[in-house]
Amino acid sequence: MKKRILIIGASGQIGTELTAYLRKRYGKHKVIASDIVEGDPAMLKEGPFEILDAMDYDAVQDVVIRHEITDVYLMAAMLSATAEKFPMKAWNLNMNSLFNVLNLARDKKIEKIFWPSSIAVFGPTTPRTDTPQRTVMEPSTVYGISKQTGERWCEYYHKRFGVDVRSIRYPGLISYTTPPGGGTTDYAVDIFYKALKHKKYVCFLNAETTLPMMYMPDAIEATVGIMEAPDASVKIRSAYNLAAFSFNPEEIAATIKKHIPEFTISYAPDFRQAIADSWPQTIDDSDARTDWGWKHSYSLEQMTEDMLKNLR
Ligand code: SER
Repeated sequence: MKKRILIIGASGQIGTELTAYLRKRYGKHKVIASDIVEGDPAMLKEGPFEILDAMDYDAVQDVVIRHEITDVYLMAAMLSATAEKFPMKAWNLNMNSLFNVLNLARDKKIEKIFWPSSIAVFGPTTPRTDTPQRTVMEPSTVYGISKQTGERWCEYYHKRFGVDVRSIRYPGLISYTTPPGGGTTDYAVDIFYKALKHKKYVCFLNAETTLPMMYMPDAIEATVGIMEAPDASVKIRSAYNLAAFSFNPEEIAATIKKHIPEFTISYAPDFRQAIADSWPQTIDDSDARTDWGWKHSYSLEQMTEDMLKNLR
């Protein structure tokens, strides 16, 4: 069977760039973008787009059958900060959408699934530096609980039903095409917009909050990299640790200041501080590097330069 891809959540921060990348790689008409809302007009013009509610099993199945889909990238989710405001809504969206695609794969209606996990699977009792692949996982956020549970179900469906599901634990993702929504790491995107526009930024995390981060082109490489890896090399079917670099608000501000000397940052931590404090600072991703050859390209400096160049 020929590869035909469905992206669910194609209008989001990752989905927008993933759609563009996959359309370039496999051909515009082999990649069906879908979301509950219409996104980037360029995406709509470029190839097929479906309005789709990831929680509606019949609707997802209908799109899968109509477009003869083989691979699904399920990028729809409610992120950490918003999920704390709407716990049940977040749980229902994050879990039901996953069960819908897992069950389609179990019933042989699709062949392969990508589902994103997150550093949020870790919690305050996890070792915070060089966080190992296998360690204490007691997430304290609704989002983290949904991602950890999702990981367990992915592994279960792989072992029990042979479902080919692949996942990585994304760190905070920084990009300029589509803004993120409702995450704790979003400050690291917002800071660039404010630095260019107002030359100052009030950060909702304190100066010392170090978190693992990654530039979007690397995240896209990792996503497609694990999906294209030979089956046998994907040895972990929960989700792989993944890392590029880590920084705190003070450090990213200093890096931006090299390009915009007048830029200043101040701090007004809110409820997101506690979320960030429960997550790792640095991640050991050696399993991903060994098993399927993951490597990152961008450093904090290179990312900063590229972000500013593109946003200008
Ligand atoms: N970046 C996400 C968030 O902050 C974590 O996966 O919610």
